[in-house]
Amino acid sequence: MNARTFHDARVVETADVATGIRRVVLEPPAGARRRADPGTHLDVRVEVPDGDRGVRPEVRSYSVVDSSPDGSRLALTVHLSPTSRGGSAHVHGLRPGDVLRCTGPLQNFPVRIGAERYLLIAGGVGITALAAAARTLTRLGAHVDLVYAGRSRDRMPYLADLQAELGERVQPAVSDEGTRLDVDALLARTARQAPGTEAYVCGPLALLDAVTHAWRRHGLPSTALRYETFGSSGRHAAQAFRVQLPALGIETVVDPGSTVLESLQRSGADLMYDCLKGECGLCVLPVRRVDGVVDHRDVYLSEDQQADGGSVCVCVSRVAAGPEGREPLLVLDLP
Ligand code: FES
Repeated sequence: MNARTFHDARVVETADVATGIRRVVLEPPAGARRRADPGTHLDVRVEVPDGDRGVRPEVRSYSVVDSSPDGSRLALTVHLSPTSRGGSAHVHGLRPGDVLRCTGPLQNFPVRIGAERYLLIAGGVGITALAAAARTLTRLGAHVDLVYAGRSRDRMPYLADLQAELGERVQPAVSDEGTRLDVDALLARTARQAPGTEAYVCGPLALLDAVTHAWRRHGLPSTALRYETFGSSGRHAAQAFRVQLPALGIETVVDPGSTVLESLQRSGADLMYDCLKGECGLCVLPVRRVDGVVDHRDVYLSEDQQADGGSVCVCVSRVAAGPEGREPLLVLDLP
C-alpha cells in the first residue's frame, strides 16, 4: 500500500496533554504500517461545517509526534483552535474505538543528518513537528538545542517529558515566567558562536516571520533554515468576505470556515494548487482590488511582495475589514 493511500486507522488512545491540546494515538491496519521518520505527518480526512449544507469532507495534515518503530502506533497532537475551520474539532471529538481515515506517514520536513550543529525552534504545538527530530538527533550524538517557546507551561505539550529525556538541550522560553523568546538575541548568538548551525522551525506565523527576518539580518545562510507552517494561523480573526474573479464571471462569499481557493472552486473555477499550506506558490493569483486588509498567511511571498499587495496565495490568505469599516472584498485576476 502506497503511503499516500488512505486507510482506516483505529483510535486506540486519546489524552489531553496541554490546555486545548489533545494527543490521539492511531493504530493503522496491518498492511499499512510504516515507520514514521522525524518530520513526517499524516493527511487525515475530517468533516467540517458547511453552512446549510451540513458538513463536507476535507483533508488536514498533522505531524506525527512519536511512533512505535514498526509503525503500529502513530501519535498526533492537535490544538483545538478557535480560528480552526473545523478539522481540529473533528480530531478532538475522536474517542478510543473510533476510526480515522488517514494516509501513512508522509515526509515534507526532513531533517538532514550530518550538520555541524542543530537549532530546533518550536512555538507551542509546533513541538509536534520537532520532538521526534530532537530525540533522533540526540540519539545519534548530534549537537542539538531545542528552543521551545510558549505563553505558559500549561499550553506547552510534552515540555516536561522532553526536559526529562533531553536535559539541558531543551531551553524553554515561557512568556508568563518572564523568559519570553528573544529571537533576535538567539540568532545573533548563533551567528557569532556557531554560524554552521542548521535550524528547523515550526510554530505560528509570527514566530516564522521573526526567525526568517532575524536569520537574514544576521547573515546566516538561507539554505540552513527550514520551517514547517501552521497554514491556518493569521494576524486577523477569520471573517466572511466577498471574492470576485471577473475573468470567469464569479462572485462568491468566503465564509470563516472556507478558503478563497475552496470558495472559487465551488463556484466552478479550475485553479492550480498543490501544498494548500501557503508554501509552494502554485495557487498565487494577481490582486486587482482589495477593500480591507489582506491577511497574508503564506510563507511563499516575500515580505516585499506581501507589502506590495499585488498577489495573494488563495489557499490560505484572507481579507479582514479595514479601519474604514467597509465590507471586505477581494477582486482577483487570473495569472
Ligand atoms: S497551494 Fe501551495 S501556496 Fe497555495
